[in-house]
Amino acid sequence: MADIRCIGICTGGGDAPGLNAVIRAAVKCAFLKYKWKVIGIPDGFDGLIWPEKSRELTLKNVSGILPRGGTILGTTNRGNPFKYRTVDNGKEVIRDISADVIANATKLGIDAVIVIGGDGSQKIALELLEKGMKLVGVPKTIDNDLSATETTFGFDTAVHTATDAIDKIHTTAESHHRVMVVEVMGRDAGWIALHAGVAGGAHLILIPEIPFSVDRICRHIVEREAYGKRFTIAVVAEGIQLPRELKQLSRGGSVGNLVGDAIALAAHKEVRVSVLGHIQRGGSPSPFDRILATRFGVAAVDLIAQGGFGKMVCLRNARIEAVDIADAIGQLKIVDPHADLVCTARSLGICFGD
Ligand code: F6P
Repeated sequence: MADIRCIGICTGGGDAPGLNAVIRAAVKCAFLKYKWKVIGIPDGFDGLIWPEKSRELTLKNVSGILPRGGTILGTTNRGNPFKYRTVDNGKEVIRDISADVIANATKLGIDAVIVIGGDGSQKIALELLEKGMKLVGVPKTIDNDLSATETTFGFDTAVHTATDAIDKIHTTAESHHRVMVVEVMGRDAGWIALHAGVAGGAHLILIPEIPFSVDRICRHIVEREAYGKRFTIAVVAEGIQLPRELKQLSRGGSVGNLVGDAIALAAHKEVRVSVLGHIQRGGSPSPFDRILATRFGVAAVDLIAQGGFGKMVCLRNARIEAVDIADAIGQLKIVDPHADLVCTARSLGICFGD
């Protein structure tokens, strides 16, 4: 058993539904099972630059936060203490303030920190660990693209939100005989697009892992018309690789609009585009995400008690396990173009634009 009296907890990177469920579970488990004090560090590692902003998290503080989206601790995706940006005499200066961050954690009496975050936050955690800070990780991203864990909390809620949007868009598509493009999140991987596309009954799904052409998309729309289907719903992941013909047209806006414009032009169709954006990161976490986040929170506290510093909790074969953060980072989990769900989708006539 590690000699621990007080732990810190921080959330870094983009928010995801379920962060508060992790915080709640960790506080409850730390206090009730181990009698530890918990300090909430605000805004990722930034909170350790100004330690006076950190505050104790009691059972009362975490009461009622289980169903709340976002994070009560606040977050940032710019807070890297190894590359801290300041402005000196009107000039941007980048400094390494990691030693201050570690010293401030010690000043607060923090023996170990739970870092809830995606790949970027876990990379920073690893660097701090190498400098002597005791940390454990909890993986987080709605994109579900971390290879160390089967699933991340937030993904299920995002898929629910995107599916609900596709369901609603269906009615207008059908009534107006239109092509409706729905752009969903997924910077590097097409998990949300694939799952929401299948769950929402989309006819076209474009994901970063499968190259597509506008010509193939248009042919699919025409093929559907031959079956009497006068509308088409296309779900497009924001991270799709643009074919050359679209790259030339791109002015850096939303890829959904770009695909929509290209279809309108090439297929002479009435097209409407909905970019779902951060709606997918908001709202109350689904029961699945609440349960996964709660299991992660408890497992992270147990990991600290066992002295498992430098490890990150994860889900494997439906069991909570731990992996070395060093082995987990930089390993993207992308959709296998031959995966079961892709094949199932193809069997239903869903086109991936290839
Ligand atoms: O990684 C999660 C994610 O929601 C991506 O899907 C998206 O590209 C990105 O974060 C958006 O980040 P931000 O909130 O900084 O715009």
